[in-house]
Amino acid sequence: MSASLTLNWPAETLWSQIEPHWPGFSVEVLPTLDSTNSTLMERARAGQAWPVLLVAEQQTAGRGRMGRSWLSEQAVGQSLTFSLALPMDEADLSGLSLVAGCALAQGLDPLQRHGIRLKWPNDLWLQQRKLGGILVEVCILGRQRHVVIGCGINIAAPPVLPAAAAGQARVTPPAWVQQFAPGVLAPEVLLQVAMPLALAMKQFSVQGFAPWQAEFARRDALAGQLVRLSDGSEGLASGVNAQGGLLIRQLDGQLHEVLSQEVSVRPAAG
Ligand code: BTN
Repeated sequence: MSASLTLNWPAETLWSQIEPHWPGFSVEVLPTLDSTNSTLMERARAGQAWPVLLVAEQQTAGRGRMGRSWLSEQAVGQSLTFSLALPMDEADLSGLSLVAGCALAQGLDPLQRHGIRLKWPNDLWLQQRKLGGILVEVCILGRQRHVVIGCGINIAAPPVLPAAAAGQARVTPPAWVQQFAPGVLAPEVLLQVAMPLALAMKQFSVQGFAPWQAEFARRDALAGQLVRLSDGSEGLASGVNAQGGLLIRQLDGQLHEVLSQEVSVRPAAG
């Protein structure tokens, strides 16, 4: 017997909002999965490469950037985990994760009343703490290119972890949506963010990052801060360029561009 869903998810509403923009689009919500990104990447590699939003009420082996794990050990509804898979055959993918971050931030906090910011390349921040993360993966099959945009958003306070597990999984302390929207659960937050994300990706597939550069700058959590990169270098974070690369003013005055998603960056004081 297959497990059933605990919560009421807005699958039909989202399908009717998004399908006109991404023909063939479908929405799937499952009670439990190892990782929504892994599932959609496996499907894409097997040739099942159509637009889909896959939501897991609970994830048992969520993945983050740079080989980290993404833990969602809260009760059902207290963490939102989903992935959006889309064809992106022609687009230049530079800046895609930044656009995804902007779209999620706009969905959660359209008027910037709650101060949701973006930490390059793809963390959502609230009061200098991590509210959510994005993992973008690409599957190339012949001439077809399929992107999987995985999003994890903390809805409620996570339980306190043993130090060893916390060190592995959380490099910055978390923030959560209920800090500014008491009582909300994952389905309501999905309804707020999925459509803006799908629409932003449609625009990105045609126009790339450029139309989003100003929005990223408005929410850039690092701008003007002294930062340290995981390669050991330091400098003043100075915004992003038209390709979504992070600009760092180094101590010798030179402007250096960081493009690699495999570099992590944090405030030098943090
Ligand atoms: C990060 O901050 O390093 C990125 C975290 C991304 C987590 C989400 S949860 C849904 C999707 N499935 C995964 O396994 N990871 C992403």
